[in-house]
Amino acid sequence: MNYRKKTVLDVDVRGKKVLLRCDFNVPQDKATGEITSDKRIVAALPTIRYLLENGAAVIACSHLGKPKGEVKPELSLKPVAKRLSELLGQEVIMADDVVGPDARAKAAALQPGQILLLENTRFEPGETKNDPELSKALASLAELYVSDAFGAVHRAHASTAGVAAYLPAVSGFLIQKELDVMGSALSAPKRPLVAILGGSKVSSKIGVINNLLEIADTIIIGGGMSYTFSAAKGGKIGDSLLEADWEDYANQMVEKAAEKGVKLLLPVDSVCGDRFAPDAERKVVPAGQIPDGWQGLDIGPETVKLYCGAVAGAGTVIWNGPMGVFEFPAFAVGTQAIAEALSKTGAVTIIGGGDSAAAVDQLGYADKMTHISTGGGASLEFLEGKELPGVACLLDK
Ligand code: 3PG
Repeated sequence: MNYRKKTVLDVDVRGKKVLLRCDFNVPQDKATGEITSDKRIVAALPTIRYLLENGAAVIACSHLGKPKGEVKPELSLKPVAKRLSELLGQEVIMADDVVGPDARAKAAALQPGQILLLENTRFEPGETKNDPELSKALASLAELYVSDAFGAVHRAHASTAGVAAYLPAVSGFLIQKELDVMGSALSAPKRPLVAILGGSKVSSKIGVINNLLEIADTIIIGGGMSYTFSAAKGGKIGDSLLEADWEDYANQMVEKAAEKGVKLLLPVDSVCGDRFAPDAERKVVPAGQIPDGWQGLDIGPETVKLYCGAVAGAGTVIWNGPMGVFEFPAFAVGTQAIAEALSKTGAVTIIGGGDSAAAVDQLGYADKMTHISTGGGASLEFLEGKELPGVACLLDK
């Protein structure tokens, strides 16, 4: 995939109406609707500020949640407009619809230096269907399309990709940074390249493992998915997470790694709990020897030493997926140790979004990493080497 895309710096934005796709899909408190993390709004600020300061009129849009083509007041972007306005220190005009009469009138009246936020793009049934009529209607509001919604670039939707067929389309600073850092880690990494893959399911990481087997020098496996690898080797995994259908695949990956000369590290011990609970009784056992009635919930101390040793000598580390149930402090030790090892290495450290980003943040290491991706599914698909529709649709440099 071509990562070299035109950016806002390559076009004249002055006096233009700019449709800016952001990823304002922020977490909210279910009861109060309060935004519980404004990271994605903050991440969009550099591009928004640049456009406003350079004389553009910004028509921002985003999805929020999955309203499935219906207007759901609880998924309105109004709370985002309020927070964005606080962060920018200027009014954010809120439209009552996406491409309806209110949005059209407010977009038409918008002046350079002003910002309008359209309602949740997924209130329109055409959004997730990538309906050309919706794309055209969105495009008719503006003269230039800027995408900065890295978290949504894996979606071929009207506002993330379709609209680019009807307007000149460039990227904002956030997408550019994600493409630069992750793109160069995959195409020309400082070696050795160590990939740490965790999380609960092998099935959700197949594409990533496959792609990284072609690129990485070392692949480290942890988290719930490591028990499927252990079971596939004939180990006892007690009540640990198992995807029995993926055991053959796990063995194939081990073989493929050996053929390619990629070091594939699996846990040598596990911290087990007698149930899935924060106060479960815990004990450390060698890998493949988890007794019935117990389940692996974290990597063990010998595994921590092995994995931290691999990280210490790395040139680049890509981490996607926690090593254990880090939400329970008693089983967060492995994930914490890896985060600490990453914070101390001189390597380029890249954290895939989603759970690993949450773990690094929760454990207090966020500011020690080279890059934490704002995309969950998007960064996973990026690491899989897939073409991302929201990137492919932008103009090449
Ligand atoms: C995300 O939160 O990963 C992005 O905003 C994409 O959201 P989606 O999975 O609902 O398309």
